[in-house]
Amino acid sequence: MKAKANGGKEGMMKYIMCMWIVLLMTGTTVFPAYSQDEIIEINSEALGSHTRPVVQFPHMNHEEQIECSECHHEYDESGENIGGEGGYCSDCHTRNAGSNPVPLMEAFHLQCKQCHAKEIASSENKDMPQMCGQCHVKK
Ligand code: HEC
Ligand code: HEC
Ligand code: HEC
Ligand code: HEC
Repeated sequence: MKAKANGGKEGMMKYIMCMWIVLLMTGTTVFPAYSQDEIIEINSEALGSHTRPVVQFPHMNHEEQIECSECHHEYDESGENIGGEGGYCSDCHTRNAGSNPVPLMEAFHLQCKQCHAKEIASSENKDMPQMCGQCHVKK
């Protein structure tokens, strides 16, 4: 009787160990994909309270394939793009056209959509959002 009870206990310990290993493994494989650094929530204060679901932008995925300065531009007097360090689009683009003629929402829409349209037309990969609800994803 005693031996059997111990066997049962050991079995239970093994089961618990296994569950821990499964939890640890799924924990470490799932977390990085959703960490803050890889996905940036674009939620410009300058646009006030948002009417559409806030955009979750997979920054890391883009950063790995595209030059920083293609998106983070800054122009010198001769019109050359000397940008690339990053930062917020609202540093230069305002809600309504001001000293910069391209308003903030249009700046985002133009940049995201133009590149996706170009890529979809010219590459095999078609996995890029074009429709409102594909970027403004309902929770
Ligand atoms: C490729 C991605 C993408 C698509 C497609 C897209 N948007 Fe956006 N939209 C954005 C981003 C990024 C912002 C900037 C959000 C911010 O700065 O907070 C934005 C901002 C906005 C805003 C201002 C913020 C708000 O929620 O009030 C509105 C309104 C908006 N989009 C409506 C639309 C509509 C309507 C469509 C479809 C015709 C559309 N968007 C398609 C990416 C997209
Ligand atoms: C496909 C376009 C794109 C590329 C390529 C890109 N970024 Fe960004 N990045 C953005 C957008 C859009 C935002 C959000 C800006 C905002 O909220 O106003 C952003 C935000 C940032 C931020 C500040 C916000 C934060 O939460 O960290 C930094 C810093 C940054 N990018 C650096 C970089 C660097 C460095 C590279 C190149 C290694 C790069 N980016 C490549 C589009 C891009
Ligand atoms: C350092 C200032 C600065 C920052 C930061 C900046 N822009 Fe711009 N952007 C400009 C200027 C200047 C122009 C040219 C405006 C004109 O036509 O005179 C421009 C033009 C644009 C245009 C229209 C021309 C084109 O290149 O297609 C888009 C779209 C745009 N910006 C999107 C963005 C987005 C998206 C971000 C953030 C990732 C951003 N900008 C950050 C200064 C800036
Ligand atoms: C200069 C080109 C370029 C710009 C600008 C750009 N994208 Fe993309 N985007 C791509 C490419 C290329 C892919 C396909 C990447 C892949 O499948 O690995 C992509 C894929 C995506 C995807 C789907 C893939 C994923 O990782 O979930 C989303 C969502 C997305 N982009 C959102 C945006 C938003 C929002 C903006 C504007 C803030 C934006 N993109 C600006 C080139 C661009």
